[in-house]
Amino acid sequence: MTIAAIQTVTLAIDGKQITVPPETTIWAAAKAAGIDIPVLCHDERFDPVGVCRMCVVDVGARAYAAACVRPCEDGMAVRTATPEVERSRAALIEMLLADQPPADRDPKQTTTGDNALLALADRYGVSRDGASQHGASQHGALPIGSGRGTDQSNPVISVDHDACILCDRCVRACDDVQGNDVIGRSGKGYATRIAFDLNDPMGASSCVTCGECVAACPTGALTNKPIHDVPIRPRTELDPVDSVCPYCGVGCALTYQVDRERGAIAFVDGRDQPGSKGRLCVKGRYGWDYAASPQRLTTPLIRRTEAYPKGPLSADVRGEMNGPEGNRGGGFDRAAAGAGIREPGIREATSGDNGRGNGQIRGGGKDSGGGKDSGGGKDSGGGKDGERRRRRKPGGLVDYAEVLPHFREATWDEALDLVASRLAEIHAAGGPGAIAGFGSAKCSNEEAYLFQKLIRTRFHTNNVDHCTRLCHASSVAALFEGIGSGAVSTTYGDVINADVAIVTGSNPTANHPVASSFFKQARRRGTTIIYVDPRADKMSDHADIFCQIKPGTDVAFYNGIMHEVIRLGLIDQDFIDHRTSNYAALAETVEDYPPERAAQITGVDADSIRRVARAWGEAAAGVIFWGMGISQHTTGTDNARCLIAMCAITGNVGRPGTGLHPLRGQNNVQGASDMGLIPMFYPDYQRADDPAVHERFEQIWGTDLDPKRGLTVTEIIGSVLKGGVRGMYMMGENPFMSDPNINKVRKALSALEFLVVQDIFLTETAEFADVILPASTYLEKDGTYTNTDRRVQLGRKVLDPPGQARVDWEIVQQVARRLGLDWDYSSARQVFDELVSIMPSYANLSYDNLGLTGKLYPNSDPEHSDGTVVMFGERFNTSDGLAHLVPAQWLPAKELPNEQYPFVLNTGRLLEHWHTGSMTRRSFALDAIAPKAQMFLHPDDAAELGLADGQLARVSSRRGTIVLETAYSFREARGNCFIPFHFREAAANLLTIDEIDPFGKIPEFKFCAVRIEPAIDGQQTEDR
Ligand code: SF4
Ligand code: SF4
Ligand code: FES
Repeated sequence: MTIAAIQTVTLAIDGKQITVPPETTIWAAAKAAGIDIPVLCHDERFDPVGVCRMCVVDVGARAYAAACVRPCEDGMAVRTATPEVERSRAALIEMLLADQPPADRDPKQTTTGDNALLALADRYGVSRDGASQHGASQHGALPIGSGRGTDQSNPVISVDHDACILCDRCVRACDDVQGNDVIGRSGKGYATRIAFDLNDPMGASSCVTCGECVAACPTGALTNKPIHDVPIRPRTELDPVDSVCPYCGVGCALTYQVDRERGAIAFVDGRDQPGSKGRLCVKGRYGWDYAASPQRLTTPLIRRTEAYPKGPLSADVRGEMNGPEGNRGGGFDRAAAGAGIREPGIREATSGDNGRGNGQIRGGGKDSGGGKDSGGGKDSGGGKDGERRRRRKPGGLVDYAEVLPHFREATWDEALDLVASRLAEIHAAGGPGAIAGFGSAKCSNEEAYLFQKLIRTRFHTNNVDHCTRLCHASSVAALFEGIGSGAVSTTYGDVINADVAIVTGSNPTANHPVASSFFKQARRRGTTIIYVDPRADKMSDHADIFCQIKPGTDVAFYNGIMHEVIRLGLIDQDFIDHRTSNYAALAETVEDYPPERAAQITGVDADSIRRVARAWGEAAAGVIFWGMGISQHTTGTDNARCLIAMCAITGNVGRPGTGLHPLRGQNNVQGASDMGLIPMFYPDYQRADDPAVHERFEQIWGTDLDPKRGLTVTEIIGSVLKGGVRGMYMMGENPFMSDPNINKVRKALSALEFLVVQDIFLTETAEFADVILPASTYLEKDGTYTNTDRRVQLGRKVLDPPGQARVDWEIVQQVARRLGLDWDYSSARQVFDELVSIMPSYANLSYDNLGLTGKLYPNSDPEHSDGTVVMFGERFNTSDGLAHLVPAQWLPAKELPNEQYPFVLNTGRLLEHWHTGSMTRRSFALDAIAPKAQMFLHPDDAAELGLADGQLARVSSRRGTIVLETAYSFREARGNCFIPFHFREAAANLLTIDEIDPFGKIPEFKFCAVRIEPAIDGQQTEDR
């Protein structure tokens, strides 16, 4: 006899008949019925643990049941608020209150004012002196505990152990949600308290300051500290603005709690959204204060006549301390430029704070250069002592006092007129090829759209690009070739449906922290994680299989895997037959990569390669996530081709838990590329060199367009050096720091006839500008941003731009009008409507239907649907609908180590910092946690070189030299070192090579040969 599975259970709660699915807890059933059962340890986002007993209910048994963990049973009669139950709760509250700080000293009650225990104490009329309206206390006041201490070691999180009720919400937030595994418990009895690692101070533990525990804590035990003295007040006294994080491509939803009286953000809450689910990392939660930096540009600036001929203006950017090439200087005559430079009159404070103090740029003042303002201030002339003094300053931001005197303040009209007239002149004299524009993946979709439209329609050139060229251009090239679309085929959250996930060439715990929390969570729920990377990053701690490949050997590794998958017969023949082309050529190529050969090339043993192949081949659903370790190689396109083939031959595309996901770096790199901020495509990846498309866009925009694809970022730099591109407009890009081989970039920027930089801070690139336009952060404008999942979200204005700074799209429009274009956009919404009208992928989206959580594209019904998670279920976007398999042969990196340069340099990001550091190094929390440049090196290598942990090392490539601190790191393989590229005082890109991938044109940031030596004493002082 078979027994039918019970589909529902029916019970009575406080006399109300309720029917729920089996396994529903009493608490959840009561909530659904509108009955409130108080909780303390329970939070719906976490698995229930039932440790506090606040939620107990009478189920007619001998003991009360904890409603948050007890499942409903058929026929159960539950009473949630009998006098006895209420008395039990009051007694519990009284006991918990006994050793809590009094309300007027409670860290939560005196800030956000929402201490859940104190709210329950109010509800039950319980006070610390033992009074209770429920008569719980039979014994008068309970003795107050002797104190379990506080911990203020984290710069932005305060710990008060006395306020802790040991509900374990923080433990679950840290372990189960973020997967950081930092918090546990230590001690026994009264001495029990939460512990960070092995009872370390929080600030010295492995905590990554994601703040998830703070968001979870119901009491004052874990609270945020005020940043820049902006007090943390109750949410009811603040103005909540729903927006989206400005950093990585994960695009987490958040709410800024704005103190309107102070015109400042008090704190940030994670906000629920189908992707990020309310989670944030340290940058999103604590890294927003850079927007209020006193170093914001607030007035248009024009280069003084004395500051010509052009060149870098600071010692750092001239590279005088940095290396063989830099020491020869950038061709700029400092003596000539220094003559007649005044003490900076546009900044109120001294330069000693280097950007973290009160240096304020005053608005107003207008002079025409030279004249009465000229006059040799103490910072102006430089000199060796002056340079050394500057170099000893902490931090690594452009020295405003050194650079600003070379500019004068101007009115917007004057600056915009100059920009328009100079660009028009250069265009008239040199033709379309003389002009180029760099937009930014930090700007909104609307700004990216208008910027490329300006360059294309006014200057009739496709020379417009942005930092995608430096991150995933090769991935996009391979994806377009292979499946006809550069966007991800599934979301990062879909990992939960995968049997196997390969994470490769990516350090997601640092670069996509919230996405990594979903990877870690998926593993806990059964997904096998295979991590493939030259570095044993934190993700390797969460991997079932970790393959530490030699850098630059990805093609050999994946060819080896495919060889074995095919040999074992684990391919999906049906998928290959019906959904792909060119399989035979692929199979023939990978035939030459048996695991033993792949092992020889990659350094991963053949058995591990076989193990990965079997796991991948046998997976019912497999997904691949990759980062710039795949794309930033001269073989980046080949690397990505292999990943596409990996998925295609095993049928792992087009179903839940399968697919291809290049984790996008910047918050809006997907959107900026979608908008056509790239030289080969108009908006929505419509080929600029396709005659039909070209003609259509000429009609849409009503003007002649360039029929050829334009130059990429790296090609534009080369063209400048050859006298091709002569005038440039840069909106939010800082190529001096972000491009490879800085010495070459320095020469190119110096050679430009005219450069306008539109930015929020004085960047290294701005030192080469003729005109600097003060722009806005994402906090100061409305606009949409498209994340790595294809989720288009609205960023909403939080604050006004400072001083005379303006919103970027408005600046672009003002330049366009002065250049004769009849633009008349009145809002970002209007721009969005225009771009949607010509972009099929964005069809149906509007500001009105994006809602609070945005929408995935494509989306046929955004009013009712979140959009498409899994793409390519039936066909690919190629002309024949098939995935085109492209075999790749392994090729070594361009610059291999030798006796003179024996180490391989890998560059990338830290969790706390962002790209060229102009935002994050001005953020209090991020700078406090990661204040300095370091080179990460295996201790055995360091010992052989005579380098102690913390000792200064001199790292040289064929292109330059930097000096920075050594950090011992077992995460590096022998023979390799890792240097983050955020730190201008030790700019990693002085060392990198500008060889590029032939298809994606992306530089090989992940591989060049370097020499490492201990820095000599004199050098230490001078170079620091
Ligand atoms: S801040 Fe994040 S990593 Fe640190 S203890 Fe809290 S949850 Fe864990
Ligand atoms: S994971 Fe990315 S988007 Fe999310 S909070 Fe962190 S930096 Fe922002
Ligand atoms: S809320 Fe149920 S036991 Fe804590």
